[in-house]
Amino acid sequence: MLLQFLKNKIKSFRSESYWSRASSSELAPQEFYLRQENVLRSRVFPLISEHSRILDIGCGSGRFGLVFAEKGAYVYGIDIAKNLIHEARLVTKSRGLKATFEVGSIDSIRHLEGEAWDVILLLGVCSTLVDSKSVAMVYENVNRLLRKGGLLLVRESLSLGTKDESYENKGYLAVYRAKDEYIDSIMGAGFQLIDLIDMATDSDKATNPFFSTKTNLFMVFKKQ
Ligand SMILES: C[S@@+](CC[C@H](N)C(=O)[O-])C[C@H]1O[C@@H](n2cnc3c(N)ncnc32)[C@H](O)[C@@H]1O
Repeated sequence: MLLQFLKNKIKSFRSESYWSRASSSELAPQEFYLRQENVLRSRVFPLISEHSRILDIGCGSGRFGLVFAEKGAYVYGIDIAKNLIHEARLVTKSRGLKATFEVGSIDSIRHLEGEAWDVILLLGVCSTLVDSKSVAMVYENVNRLLRKGGLLLVRESLSLGTKDESYENKGYLAVYRAKDEYIDSIMGAGFQLIDLIDMATDSDKATNPFFSTKTNLFMVFKKQ
């Protein structure tokens, strides 16, 4: 058990150092990100008010938080990667938008409690957290941050099998968690699944071997 704990610590450290040197948080083709922006506008915007309070955890260069800022929402993003936060601030300024981006870890979000967030974004973040116990804690912590009825938006690549799959390439580490168990664990933290969108098109599934064993889902949960 101690050995596993130490292994997870080392892996977490390596993953964080990968991101702290990263010059971009966008690893997939652009059309994948555009598709997500469309999902936010068409499936999430109808559920929230213009002046919602949005917390984007693991915001990267701020792309999705800024979709809400364009709508007039209050947006606060955190990420462990200094470079990406710097980029998010530059983009916000150059587009004449208002949003706050700060360097911070998903492990220390308690200071954001008591602010009654309407929407929390966890987009592509939890698969970069190698320790599943800390992921379970994230959902409990996020539940405390959201107001009752608030929305949790999660996008993840998940395994279609029954076991988690680990992946590593040039310092990038990811865990593709088993889909059903993963969704159950979020619901177990006090959320109801109200929408689920498959982000891979038929063409992605036919041509990209990644999708023969995995899926990429955009999920909308509501705090009960
Ligand atoms: C795949 S990127 C996703 C970025 C953005 N949410 C998006 O959907 O484009 C994962 C992000 O999680 C951030 N991240 C990884 N570990 C983190 C941690 N412990 N605390 C906060 N952010 C973290 C990384 O720096 C990176 O920006």
